[in-house]
Parts: sequence; structure tokens; C-alpha cells
Amino acid sequence: MAFFYDPFMKTLEKVLVRNRTELINHIHGKVLEVGSGTGVNFELYAQKDAEVYAIEPSVPMYKRALKQQQKHAPNLKVFNIGIEQVPQQTDMPKKYDFIVSMLVLCTVEEAEKAAKIYYDLLKDDGKLLVLEHIHSTGTWYGKFQTLVNPLWKPFADGCNLTRRQDYILKNAGFVPVEEKYFKLGTDWYQAVMIKK
Ligand SMILES: C[S@@+](CC[C@H](N)C(=O)[O-])C[C@H]1O[C@@H](n2cnc3c(N)ncnc32)[C@H](O)[C@@H]1O
Repeated sequence: MAFFYDPFMKTLEKVLVRNRTELINHIHGKVLEVGSGTGVNFELYAQKDAEVYAIEPSVPMYKRALKQQQKHAPNLKVFNIGIEQVPQQTDMPKKYDFIVSMLVLCTVEEAEKAAKIYYDLLKDDGKLLVLEHIHSTGTWYGKFQTLVNPLWKPFADGCNLTRRQDYILKNAGFVPVEEKYFKLGTDWYQAVMIKK
């Protein structure tokens, strides 16, 4: 998947880069990027007054992310770990001003657990930046997603088409201060969230 990810996403990224930039423009201080993949956001962090800690558990993705880091982001460190390992990590901050969750809660095995970890890792006045594709609940397309998800998931490295990350994050105690739903192939959720 690491090999195909950037070419596969190329057309979509021409649009998504605007959403990514809009969210990443908020950042400063200590930032955690969860599941950075090939490092698609790294260039956007380069000019920011921020100390960025990116985590990525897949070794092939991590290796690509490292190359992106060397090319674009001296203010960023990449760790080859998943979100579940962050609280035990001694060489990473215990709390963050911003957590970036983009196209990742679809893939994390236990999304509810991950959302709780986000909550614990975010400072009380911190912000969670979210860009996730979500299940098109209640539509014929949503029914189609439910039908193809068992085939899609192994093909797309564990990505689920049938999750509602907006509900998962709100149930974990996050409140949106900005949110928008939009369509781009499927339904998407973009938000800036704070702790309740
Ligand atoms: C669809 S990719 C998205 C990559 C990138 N965030 C982006 O916006 O393009 C999902 C990524 O989440 C990572 N991932 C899966 N489980 C994870 C976990 N438990 N903790 C952190 N990242 C995880 C995968 O390895 C993969 O690189």
C-alpha cells in the first residue's frame, strides 16, 4: 500500500490539499500527527512555529515519511509506532497543543480507543484537527459502502468505509468549534475540536 498510496491519492489530493492546509494553518507549539502515512502533510508544517511529532506504525509508510521529513521538515520527528504506544513513549511529550488526525481513524483498529488516547494526550486548551472520510449513512451509496467494505478493507490496508469518526470523536468528549461536512467521491468530515 505504501508503494501505491501517493499515486492512488494523486487526483484526490489536488482538492484535499486545501482542506489539509486550512487545518494545518492553525498549528503552533507541540503537535502530534497520528498515522502520517507517506508524510503527505510534512511540507505544510515546514514554515510553522511548531515542534511536530509524527507517528506511523507501518514500516514501508514510515520509511517514505522519513524521506519526506529529511526533504521538507526539519521541525518534525517521525516515530515508527501506533497511537497506542504514544503514552508510554519517553522521548515524546506527554501533552500536545494540537493533534492532527487525517484519514487515519478509518484504519486504526480500535478507533474508539484511539479517540480516548487523543483526549488524554491533548492539553486542556489544545485542539484536535480532523479530516476523515466517513460512512455515507442513510443513502444508497452508504449501503453500497457496507456491501463492499469486506472486500475494500484488506485491499486498502485496513481502511473502513463504514465508520462515523464524527460520532466516535464526539462520544469520546470532543466538541467541534468549527466543522463541515462535504462530498468528494464519498462523504467527508472536517473539524477543529476542543475538549468538553
Ligand atoms: C489512509 S493512511 C493516511 C495517511 C495520512 N494520514 C494521510 O492523510 O494521507 C492511514 C494511516 O494510518 C496508519 N495507522 C493504522 N493504524 C494506526 C495506529 N494504530 N496508530 C497510528 N497510525 C495508524 C496506517 O499505517 C496508515 O499509514
